[in-house]
Amino acid sequence: METRQKVFSGLQPTGNIHIGNYLGALKNWVSFQDSYETVYCVVDLHAITVPYDPVEFKKDRIAAAKVLLAMGIDPERSMFYFQSQVPQHAELSWILGTMTPTGVLNRMTQYKEKADKVGANLGLYSYPVLMAADILLFNADLVPVGDDQRQHLEMARDLAERFNNRFGEVFHIPEAYIPDVSARIMSLTDPQVKMSKSDANPKSMVLVLDVPDAINKKIKSAVTDSDPGVRYDPTEKPGISNLLEIMSACTGVSIDALVDEYATSGYGVFKQAVADVVIEEFAPIRVAYERLDDADVARMMHKGALDARIAAEAYQAKVRAAVGLDRI
Ligand code: TYM
Repeated sequence: METRQKVFSGLQPTGNIHIGNYLGALKNWVSFQDSYETVYCVVDLHAITVPYDPVEFKKDRIAAAKVLLAMGIDPERSMFYFQSQVPQHAELSWILGTMTPTGVLNRMTQYKEKADKVGANLGLYSYPVLMAADILLFNADLVPVGDDQRQHLEMARDLAERFNNRFGEVFHIPEAYIPDVSARIMSLTDPQVKMSKSDANPKSMVLVLDVPDAINKKIKSAVTDSDPGVRYDPTEKPGISNLLEIMSACTGVSIDALVDEYATSGYGVFKQAVADVVIEEFAPIRVAYERLDDADVARMMHKGALDARIAAEAYQAKVRAAVGLDRI
């Protein structure tokens, strides 16, 4: 029997799923379903490492699941569930935590940034260990993520090697899958910084569920520069280069071909073309989202978690046996 390579990835359920998430990772999640065995997870345990409102959070969790389903995550083809409903994630995280040097965690740039903003806590500190557990739990081969997760992926690989060296070959060493174009979509209001869900300025990001008018306004008011040529130069022209990446990733047309087409058209025409492409990309997702019923989706996610618990348990039994925690 053919065994397909396994893909795992996760998305934090915060309200603002944006075009960076979509083009950096989620678009690949959908297409990987055609050729891989895919496991996708709404990582709600990761999301509670920063301050949050439980009532809003409950809505955001189901909304995130709905966005992913609306994009084309197909529960018939992918294992799809909430992380908190599969306790093996937390169990493996604890075991991996016992072999994670704190010096490594101290160097994690996302931890340092978030701890500066919201205050440090143990969950935030061990966030990358839980992420490694997510990936290793199902023995994933490939992990589609944006560029900002590179360091976390390196750590997951190191932990897998460390574990295998000490306890025998249990884990595959996973590879990150980071797209060439759109691995790091920048803020529309400050193209020097990454587009981020936690940005307080709503104009900094196009949301997957934005209506066409909002997409139009945000892209048309995107910060660019005063030299009018459309060229790809992330250092000198970060705003225009960001829009070129967005357009290229949505259409599949190369950046060079887009530059040829829009080099002299002026920013107004170019921005309108980018807005039109993004509106077209997101329109079917919004329509599909509106059709989904919360209670149906909750049931679907329960079913996904049941399947995932059974699959995870088979792997986790091997981990327990390797470390001497097997059931006796
Ligand atoms: P999260 O929820 O912050 O983001 C989801 C995905 O979106 C990518 N991303 C971006 N890509 C391009 N440009 C951007 N501006 C941008 N912003 C975000 C992220 O790289 C990510 O792939 N730690 C993960 C969640 C996670 C996970 C995992 C991922 C938990 N466990 C296991 C993979 C495997 C995160 O914070 O994603």
